[in-house]
Amino acid sequence: MSARLTTQSVTVRFHGLTALEDVSISLDQGEILGLLGPNGAGKTTLVNVLSGFTRPSGGTVKVNEIDLTRARPDVLARRGIVRTFQSVRLFQRMTVRENVQVPVFAHHAGSVEGEQAAQRALEFVGLAEESDRIAGSLPYTQERLVGIARALALEPKFLMLDEPAAGMNDVEGAQLVELIARIPAQYGCGVLLIEHNMPVVMAVCERLHVLRGGRTLASGPREEIRRNPDVIESYLGGH
Ligand SMILES: Nc1ncnc2c1ncn2[C@@H]1O[C@H](COP(=O)(O)OP(=O)(O)OP(=O)(O)O)[C@@H](O)[C@H]1O
Ligand SMILES: [Mg+2]
Repeated sequence: MSARLTTQSVTVRFHGLTALEDVSISLDQGEILGLLGPNGAGKTTLVNVLSGFTRPSGGTVKVNEIDLTRARPDVLARRGIVRTFQSVRLFQRMTVRENVQVPVFAHHAGSVEGEQAAQRALEFVGLAEESDRIAGSLPYTQERLVGIARALALEPKFLMLDEPAAGMNDVEGAQLVELIARIPAQYGCGVLLIEHNMPVVMAVCERLHVLRGGRTLASGPREEIRRNPDVIESYLGGH
């Protein structure tokens, strides 16, 4: 059965600041959902909530009807909810393969199955040949790919990518996006993609959710979002 990850009316307050207010989204297995919004709109905070790194002040996180609002990141990862980070966090002195295996082994405790999952993920992102290289010696773009391989090795049902193309040049970014577009077919998971490059988002995401100032500005199929006057005015303006 295909699963759906949802938030219902999620609110996050940090002391005086409301980072998210009443945000409801859904992500289906097999789709790519674009999450848009200007800096500080609450995109990373929403991913933090969905992946258990931030507890919301209000609202719920569910997979189908199962309430996971208070679940820890490792529990959510076991349930197939996995995210990457906006800035790469690799173990510099470990090899590429070890970096990808670390989270897998935390789940499968060194099994052959885990090794195979890590190998598959490295092949998928095109880094199988670099497996024995020390992670600290990788160029930036490949470092980011290791971050994605690491998440894929957990064979997620829902994968959240927080600005995976940040810091890449246009060619590298375009290659990465092609790779991301193939994830649902290859892994059967839903992908939530945070990405600022509008042509990229429009090319790869069938559905978009737009945040502004912690609130939902618009949500729907890409054609609808493209024509939405609020989105055009506040976010797409000039693009
Ligand atoms: N741990 C925290 N403590 C206090 N405020 C925070 C915390 N995390 C985020 N914020 C604030 O919440 C708001 C939303 O931040 P968030 O990082 O979710 O935005 P974003 O949409 O991911 O932005 P960007 O495009 O810059 O990555 C911002 O005003 C930010 O300063
Ligand atoms: Mg962010």
